[in-house]
Amino acid sequence: MSRQDDRSPAERAAELRAALHHHAHRYYVLDEPEIPDAEYDRLFQELQAIEEAHPELRTPDSPTQRVLGRVLDGFTPVRHAVPMLSIRTETDTEDSGAVAFDARVRRELGLAADAPPIAYACELKFDGLAINLRYEHGVLVQAATRGDGETGEDVTQNLRTVNQIPLRLAGCDAPVLEVRGEVYIRRDDFEVLNERQRELIAQGHKNEKTFVNPRNAAAGAVRQLDPAIAAKRPLSFFAYGLGEVQGWDQPATHSKTMDALEAMGLPVNRERQVVKGADGLVEYHRAIGARRDALPFDIDGVVYKVDDLALQRRLGFVTREPRWAVAHKYPAQEQMTVVRDIDIQVGRTGKLTPVAKLEPVFVGGTTVSNATLHNEDETRRKDVRIGDTVIVRRAGDVIPEVVGVVLERRPAEVSAPFDLYQRLKGRCPVCGSDIVREEGEADWRCTGGLFCAAQRKQAILHFAQRRAMDIEGLGDKLVEQLVDHGIVRTLPELYKLGVAKLVELERMGEKSAVNLIAGLEKSKQTTLARFLYSLGVRHVGEATAKDLARHFGSLDRVLDASIAQLLEVPDVGPIVAQSIRTFFDQPHNREVVEQLRAAGITWAEHDGEADRTPKPLAGQTFVLTGTLPTLSREEAKELIEAAGGKVAGSVSKKTHCVVAGAEAGSKLDKARELGVMVIDEQGLRALLERV
Ligand code: IVH
Repeated sequence: MSRQDDRSPAERAAELRAALHHHAHRYYVLDEPEIPDAEYDRLFQELQAIEEAHPELRTPDSPTQRVLGRVLDGFTPVRHAVPMLSIRTETDTEDSGAVAFDARVRRELGLAADAPPIAYACELKFDGLAINLRYEHGVLVQAATRGDGETGEDVTQNLRTVNQIPLRLAGCDAPVLEVRGEVYIRRDDFEVLNERQRELIAQGHKNEKTFVNPRNAAAGAVRQLDPAIAAKRPLSFFAYGLGEVQGWDQPATHSKTMDALEAMGLPVNRERQVVKGADGLVEYHRAIGARRDALPFDIDGVVYKVDDLALQRRLGFVTREPRWAVAHKYPAQEQMTVVRDIDIQVGRTGKLTPVAKLEPVFVGGTTVSNATLHNEDETRRKDVRIGDTVIVRRAGDVIPEVVGVVLERRPAEVSAPFDLYQRLKGRCPVCGSDIVREEGEADWRCTGGLFCAAQRKQAILHFAQRRAMDIEGLGDKLVEQLVDHGIVRTLPELYKLGVAKLVELERMGEKSAVNLIAGLEKSKQTTLARFLYSLGVRHVGEATAKDLARHFGSLDRVLDASIAQLLEVPDVGPIVAQSIRTFFDQPHNREVVEQLRAAGITWAEHDGEADRTPKPLAGQTFVLTGTLPTLSREEAKELIEAAGGKVAGSVSKKTHCVVAGAEAGSKLDKARELGVMVIDEQGLRALLERV
């Protein structure tokens, strides 16, 4: 954009201000920017430069004047021209709450039963902080909190930093227009804010803290004495009403008034809706309730307002509440309660999760007495201790969680900061095995995979799967029953199962029982790689198990391998080596391995590294696609691996060869695209025979 210098600085400044107001509205309120951020910055800087050179051109509504205050000692009281009232809250969260409001309104208006339904303006009840914005001749001159309704506090300099709040109204220069609404923080902004706070705390900023919820963070920001800090808090705003009005022709309904405010550039929430009668209210309450968790900000209910302002006037007020409006709540998603204890649960995979045992509390529609603390870091970050009063949140179907501690309520004799290792004395609470926390991981884990009762089902299913011991007939449901009835507690006990015990189980006929026993018998003849994989050592997948088997050649050598020796295995790094060592260092795991061997599991052992079968495909990666004429996927894979090759799931530049069968799909296309060699089953067999 070229600058036309025949215009005076005053004209150019006015033009820039108008452009910046327009683009700020598009960006912050409508979320539909028309120009790139860099262009906005350029216009902004041009205006700043003009104002530097001509300070007399600076106006209070200039976009450059958003952050201009100094640190305050306190806030100045503001007497509201029109009191800021609150509304009656319907605590009955069911449909009947809406029906009761409509009945009350009709009764107070003296309407006959057959009179037409009343039109209501329905809105969300934002969970933030009420604010009065005073515009004089279209320019924002003051922002005040609600206070006691009569007198609030002057928070103008903080609210000026909220980009969504226009410093000048579009197309309105009424002498006085007070706009009322809610300042709040969006959930995503809240997460970012807390993340930043955590970083500050980690950097040693002692006065910083994380916020328990968006409402508290918003309230803190509005009442922040340093406007520079307030400016860094991601506040948003929705208008929902008016205060004092002079010289503005207000439309005849609340909904039209909101439309007019929206046209002036104020943010007004789009979920508002005009409905008819009690049925309309109920429908709105239900519809919003169903979407509550998907909204980008917290609400604690909806608000119904009689739409017609003439009717509003007829209804008037009782004490300090209008008769024409009501807040209809949803069940609270957050409640305060006390932490009685912190338990540590062992998951199916051995993950240790700290769980707060709570004084039971009704939240999110159910009574909650346990809430997850996720992991040790999270517990320390929130500094949750036994005896603390905490805020518990249960939103939708999500498991209840502790969002934060109410530090003001911390008793003098509170327990020490949470330390998972110390708490458990380093032992799994279920099986007594060592617990470990690997570098870079958030979770502590039990290492007693084969022995730990908490991990039994998972361990057995893993052991039995096709790629492991391949025990035919031992599926999900059966494992569930065997463990729940206490028939199988450890893997070796599988091999002690008899038909008589099995037929007692649900849906287990004699034939299935006999088949299972046969499946178990058959599984005993396996390979070292399969056996190693079946143990479920953390980080030891199929490929690593094969590498280990190939490298060490015998189980005893694997069991006794030092970290240094393990590191010699291709693709085994320090974390995997440590995990293998820790696993076999647990006497319980060792015992299980011995019992399995004693049960008759065998494989052909190699003596040491003397695996002398030819390896024509050593170091080559293959990808299988489509259906081969005689070999199954599994068989082809085994042949390739036996010849020293690897089989990968997808084609890349590193793939040596793609083996394609009938109906090969995208992998074949990809191979052609990358120029990777493509062969068929016959070609594969030829490669395998080439010694
Ligand atoms: S109307 C005279 N509309 O709820 C009526 N209030 O007691 C004035 N609130 O703290 C309020 N969303 O800040 C109204 N859509 C909405 C609202 C709303 C949230 C808050 C308000 C006040 C409380 C009402």
